[in-house]
Amino acid sequence: MDIEVGEELNRDLFGKDFKWGVSTAAYQIEGAHDADGKGSSIWDIYTERKKKILNGHHGKIACDFYNRYKEDISLLKDLNIPNLRLSTSWSRIMPSGTGPINHKGIDFYNRIIDTSLENGIEPWLTLYHWDLPHALEQKGGWTNRDIISWFAEYTEICAKHFGDRVKHWMVMNEPMVFTGAGYFLGVHAPGRTGANNFLPAVHHTVLSISEGGRILKDLLPAAEIGTTFSCSFIQPYTNRPKDVNAANRIDALLNRMFIEPILGMGYPENDLSFLKKISKYMRPGDEDKMAFDFDFIGVQNYTREIVKNSYLTPYVQASLVKAKDRGVPYTSMGWEVYPESIYEMIRKFNEYKNIKKIYITENGAAFPDHLIDGKVNDTQRTKYIQENLKQVLRARNEGMSAEGYFVWTLTDNFEWSEGYHPRFGLVHVDFETQQRTIKSSGHWYSDFLSGQNDQTKSDLNLEKSNLISSNASRS
Ligand code: GAL
Repeated sequence: MDIEVGEELNRDLFGKDFKWGVSTAAYQIEGAHDADGKGSSIWDIYTERKKKILNGHHGKIACDFYNRYKEDISLLKDLNIPNLRLSTSWSRIMPSGTGPINHKGIDFYNRIIDTSLENGIEPWLTLYHWDLPHALEQKGGWTNRDIISWFAEYTEICAKHFGDRVKHWMVMNEPMVFTGAGYFLGVHAPGRTGANNFLPAVHHTVLSISEGGRILKDLLPAAEIGTTFSCSFIQPYTNRPKDVNAANRIDALLNRMFIEPILGMGYPENDLSFLKKISKYMRPGDEDKMAFDFDFIGVQNYTREIVKNSYLTPYVQASLVKAKDRGVPYTSMGWEVYPESIYEMIRKFNEYKNIKKIYITENGAAFPDHLIDGKVNDTQRTKYIQENLKQVLRARNEGMSAEGYFVWTLTDNFEWSEGYHPRFGLVHVDFETQQRTIKSSGHWYSDFLSGQNDQTKSDLNLEKSNLISSNASRS
């Protein structure tokens, strides 16, 4: 679908109740890795291992949000962004994962919540964005069934301390990514590999998500309780049955494996037979315990994947055909720029009849930004966001649920195994000086949110001509 830059996009078209925001995560921004009694998380440990993270980067300082949260929250206010999604660090609140609470950790999140509210910004809290306390990993982490009660304890503490002011909660962030990358491929913390780690981690994560949902709902009946999932639009490389079946298997793995048991549908093992092995970790009553009726589901989408059959790939017999090998535009992460993907994912999640409400809790892009004369003219990011928003609008106009949109992310930050190289922020960070510079995408989002579209329209048409000329010079 060809959509003109700068045309027809207007905040009012999304309705006055639509939630606009940005998403962040504790380990990617906070730094202060051992300040004020914080315990180590698996990311503190994993980033110290040689050759695990590009250029040996780590999150010890990151964006120094721990000390600069006031500045960053006032930046949000300046940018007219009314909702901030952030996560709490489990090991900052409970250094050993269970047992004693670190009150200085609680104080820190209270300061963030209060400062946000004082600035008219609504905090949305994710309880788990991948930074498991290392002490729990030493006991098996997500592979140990006891984690369900460890996570329950932590959930209860957060609900009790923050629930008087936080009205929107997400139990976990992208379970497929942290179990897949962290417990199967070993490319994220804690660096475990293989099915014997992955499958129990998946099952205990599903049980912990639903248990976390139940606890939050019991303790905070008036709050809106959700959880978030990564997803990619999956298409087969060719129409040959082998590729079509391979695409179905990858769809089951990447898009359905967590949401379906939570909706009470069980694991999609008919489409991915390897998941039958999860039964080894199931106990009587688990089928029921896996399900929880969330108030909302956070859909997080960045791209689509093209899949082909591959006998050589264990368990899934399928492989992804990279964007760069397909000659299509892609971001600094190597992810194809394909805005229709977000529309397709909104549609897919809307097709599940038990999902009540959907927010887009992450969407965004990393591009090579250049700070020149105090400015970052990141037209590609602006265009990416606009085109994705148009697809969100398209879904809404067709009657689907998509009630909010959160850009990933506010400031450039620590991008997991890629270190600081990919920059996703609306705000540029100089990691030497911690200087923040609002990028042109940040200015655009701000103008868009304040309804100043007419002024930006002409800027965008100008940017469009820049884009055309830069594309022309590349080809
Ligand atoms: C998501 C993740 C974020 C961020 C983003 C960009 O998968 O939740 O933490 O890293 O991707 O890669």
